[in-house]
Amino acid sequence: MNTAAPAPEETSRIRMALRAENVPPSATAALDAQAKTLIALGVDVINLTSGEPAFPTVEPAAQAATQAIAEGFTRYTPAAGIPELRAAVAVHLNRHGTTYEPSAVVVTAGAKQALHYAFTALLNPGDEVMIPAPYWVSYPHLAALAGGTAVPVHPSPDAGLKVTPDQLRRAVTTRTRVLLLNSPANPSGVVYSRAELAALAEVAVDHDLTIISDEICDHWVFGTAAFTSVAALSEEIAARTLTIGAVSKTYAMTGWRIGWVAGPTPVARAITALQSHTASAPSSIAQKAALGALTADLTTELEHRRQALDARRLTTIKALTDTPGLEVGGIPEGAFFLLADVSATYGRTHASRTITSAADFAELLLAEANVAVVPGADFAAPHHVRISYTVPPDRLEEALTRIADFVGGLAPTAERVLG
Ligand SMILES: Cc1ncc(COP(=O)(O)O)c(C=O)c1O
Repeated sequence: MNTAAPAPEETSRIRMALRAENVPPSATAALDAQAKTLIALGVDVINLTSGEPAFPTVEPAAQAATQAIAEGFTRYTPAAGIPELRAAVAVHLNRHGTTYEPSAVVVTAGAKQALHYAFTALLNPGDEVMIPAPYWVSYPHLAALAGGTAVPVHPSPDAGLKVTPDQLRRAVTTRTRVLLLNSPANPSGVVYSRAELAALAEVAVDHDLTIISDEICDHWVFGTAAFTSVAALSEEIAARTLTIGAVSKTYAMTGWRIGWVAGPTPVARAITALQSHTASAPSSIAQKAALGALTADLTTELEHRRQALDARRLTTIKALTDTPGLEVGGIPEGAFFLLADVSATYGRTHASRTITSAADFAELLLAEANVAVVPGADFAAPHHVRISYTVPPDRLEEALTRIADFVGGLAPTAERVLG
């Protein structure tokens, strides 16, 4: 155990730009780090904050990377990525009905960097990005870093955490430039149907907006839900859409940092120029690894993984539904997260601490039951916590039991006792 005194707060003479001072650290990463610190200290914490499936990287990726190193494939690559990988990504995307040429694809260091380039290429200062809530925590910061302003669009309370075209139309202003779509969605796991996406995309067509469609979880769709690629909806929509994706989640390759943006050639060219002056290109070795993953026949293995996650999803939904005081938000049919509404626990107490927010709930749950979840405030879901159900089944069952026991053991409010 590390018993060293904490380092004193470092001071600096360097005056930072507002854009750096205004970016808070990610809440997801903070909770994940807190849980990992406790685990390192020997505490039996079950970490349900993770943003990645708990599977190993697919074997052909690792093999291709080893081979790339052995063959000395360790130099700069073309700024848009190696041609074979751009072609493989185009084939990979087009299985959903799009018609991308390899020249439409720019390979990036993960989907996150692809989003950063997309916002940088599209936004002038003050331009607005409509983001259906609840949303992935990084979108507003990525938009702000590029000079834009995020405009959250909130669903109605009874709408299953999905926004409607009318809600988007009401949020459009003269400054709106981009509509961000993300289905399957992080953090809620909701999957918009083809018809729903078509209706949302129509708003972009009517108001001449660009759509950025983050489709990073395209593989993780369950039950009766089906994945729809927005750019496959029509030629008109494809002409105004940038599709974002990655090998990160599907192939368990989050650490390899390979993603992409695909869209009309002039935008792909501009993004390539941005990348050439910033990152040069993603890692040559990781590009070979991604090529290995995309060109191997992994259908059976990926289907096994999908079914394994689906079983964990159903276990989680059942356990939370059976826990009085918790309510699953919307219908989580994709990704590997869901949101649990914890507002019914507000006012209840544990060891003289009263829960007044989802942040209190998450903090107490970690302190008292050793289960880490992420409070939803930064996802624009202030009364929910995000639960990532990717952990192995025995740990998941144990975590869900601990959550149920924790909620069941909360004392009622003083008023309720009196009243
Ligand atoms: C919705 C969504 N988009 C993008 C990303 C970033 O993906 P990558 O690790 O490929 O940069 C994540 C990662 O958590 C995500 O959940």
